[in-house]
Amino acid sequence: MLEAAASMNRPYSLQDLKKLTDSDMLRVNQVISDHLASEVVLINQLSQHIILSGGKRLRPMLVILTARACGHEGEDDALLAAVVEFIHTATLLHDDVVDDSDMRRGKQTASTIWGNEAAVLVGDYLYSRAFQMMIKARSMTIMDLLANTTNTIAQGEVLQLLNIRDPNTSEQKYQEVIYAKTACLFEAAAHIGALLGKAGSEQEQALKAYGRHLGIAFQLIDDALDYSAQSEELGKNVGDDLAEGKPTLPLIRAMEVGNASQKKLIRDAIESGRIERFDNINRVINDTGALQYTIEQAQTEASAAKNAIAALDDSEYRQAMMFLADYAVERHC
Ligand code: IPE
Ligand code: IPE
Ligand code: MG
Ligand code: MG
Repeated sequence: MLEAAASMNRPYSLQDLKKLTDSDMLRVNQVISDHLASEVVLINQLSQHIILSGGKRLRPMLVILTARACGHEGEDDALLAAVVEFIHTATLLHDDVVDDSDMRRGKQTASTIWGNEAAVLVGDYLYSRAFQMMIKARSMTIMDLLANTTNTIAQGEVLQLLNIRDPNTSEQKYQEVIYAKTACLFEAAAHIGALLGKAGSEQEQALKAYGRHLGIAFQLIDDALDYSAQSEELGKNVGDDLAEGKPTLPLIRAMEVGNASQKKLIRDAIESGRIERFDNINRVINDTGALQYTIEQAQTEASAAKNAIAALDDSEYRQAMMFLADYAVERHC
């Protein structure tokens, strides 16, 4: 009794989340390793390099939490959680080629070690493996959902490509990109949990909205961290977005509210994709409040995520989902 009361008063932590999902995530990791094997040595090396090098496993965790919150008790949650992680990993392999990034999950990127061609092709391998796996869940609704989701992600990456080095990219266009490339998969993960748990339509909509808002918050913070984090902690290079001329919200906002010379500095940086002025740009996104604005937008999205699940039955899984929304904003990596 006393212990329960004490635990209710102390703030929820990442450790609590890990403890709650530990045994389920072990099942997920087992499904992941069971499905990585190929007869082609390069595929094994490269896919193991990225998949087994950590990663927060947030999207599969989301499948688990939402499925459990809806009372699901079968095995398909681990299968589909692994599918979602495979899709995520495939997008990372492709993304690091497109973004010319050389660090991921604290290690050299696969494209740096094995070359762009190998990274793209193994990304395709993981995508198609994900489709082979999802068939086993025998749900046309889930296959339809994941087919649409992967298509939207690909579209989001192309849309983003069109915005590269374009300083006129609007906040609205940016929002479209982050929904498509990132939030859509979070939304799908939460939706899968709802479908597995046979949630009613209200609950299903609530969980989808939760996933979508969480995903948007997550990408907003990712874009803030690309300016403000420490590479060692982040496990990725800081400044990659600027180096590529990627107009993310910190830059878009700074151009909206900055003075003429601040605007010019940012426009030039986006157009040239040169990173030498990183310190100056960083100063501008801080002085104009653009970095803070990005974080506040993420906070608003995290609150919307929490509101979306406020009416769900209370459970330790819902509590974990509430925590995850705050974590998406407060994280440093
Ligand atoms: C990175 O996602 C890609 C984005 C959508 C920002 P994560 O930060 O979840 O990457 P891992 O899986 O933990 O490495
Ligand atoms: C997320 O965008 C990319 C995907 C959804 C694959 P970023 O390009 O910002 O992701 P990171 O920062 O490289 O992980
Ligand atoms: Mg990238
Ligand atoms: Mg990023």
